[in-house]
Amino acid sequence: MGDAFREVDAFIAEKLVAHDDALDAAVAESERAGLPPIQVSAPQGKMLMMLARMIGARRVLEIGTLGGYSTIWLARALPEDGELVTLEIDPKHAAVAKKNVERAGLASRVSIRVGPALETLAALEAPRKTSFDFFFIDADKANKARYFESALALSRSGSVIVVDNVVRDGRVLDGKTTDANIRGTRALFDRISNEPRVDATAIQTVGDKGWDGFLLAIVR
Ligand code: SAH
Ligand code: DHB
Ligand code: MG
Repeated sequence: MGDAFREVDAFIAEKLVAHDDALDAAVAESERAGLPPIQVSAPQGKMLMMLARMIGARRVLEIGTLGGYSTIWLARALPEDGELVTLEIDPKHAAVAKKNVERAGLASRVSIRVGPALETLAALEAPRKTSFDFFFIDADKANKARYFESALALSRSGSVIVVDNVVRDGRVLDGKTTDANIRGTRALFDRISNEPRVDATAIQTVGDKGWDGFLLAIVR
């Protein structure tokens, strides 16, 4: 089925996702720099942009920048005076992303904070006055539940939280696994299933990147 998934994604992209120099360059430059090709697919990137636009997001927080591909999609949802903060542990990834975001003409809206997200999130939470309208959690999978906790702390009523990679070829079902990534994802589901402050669902996906899924939450 892998080829069929890829072909349908290519069909969707061809019909609905306009060809775009800045996004193509972001993927090409990330590959040239040796970054892993694990950015969201084009149709997924556009979906993120549309979700952010649907709620009129003005402030977006992304956890896990890589080469800035999803960053560019999300920053395009913002108004001129909007702001996107994106968190990345690897200085090399951040440097590639910075160039890609600049090439896309979005540097004035995007700031990249380099460091372990648990630390950069703590720094964002400390002043107790910032909030974000939209969150995209897509960094290491082991800390997902903690990132969700921080997103809640930085949210307002109506904020939307999207988490990537919550299915991983069905491995999310394995309650006995020692894989920290899957354990982190299961901890996220456990955390949210007992959380009265959000409405949440998760949707499985197939496509370019195989079988996976997004978790979607809205803060009450
Ligand atoms: N959102 C990107 C893909 C992100 S891949 C896109 O779709 O285009 C995951 C990224 O998270 C990698 O760049 C990785 O270096 C980063 N990462 C991993 N652990 C992290 C941590 N503890 N803190 C911040 N970033 C982390
Ligand atoms: C992989 C995919 C992702 O979307 C991600 O954020 C991390 C890893 C992967 O396919 O390995
Ligand atoms: Mg991902």
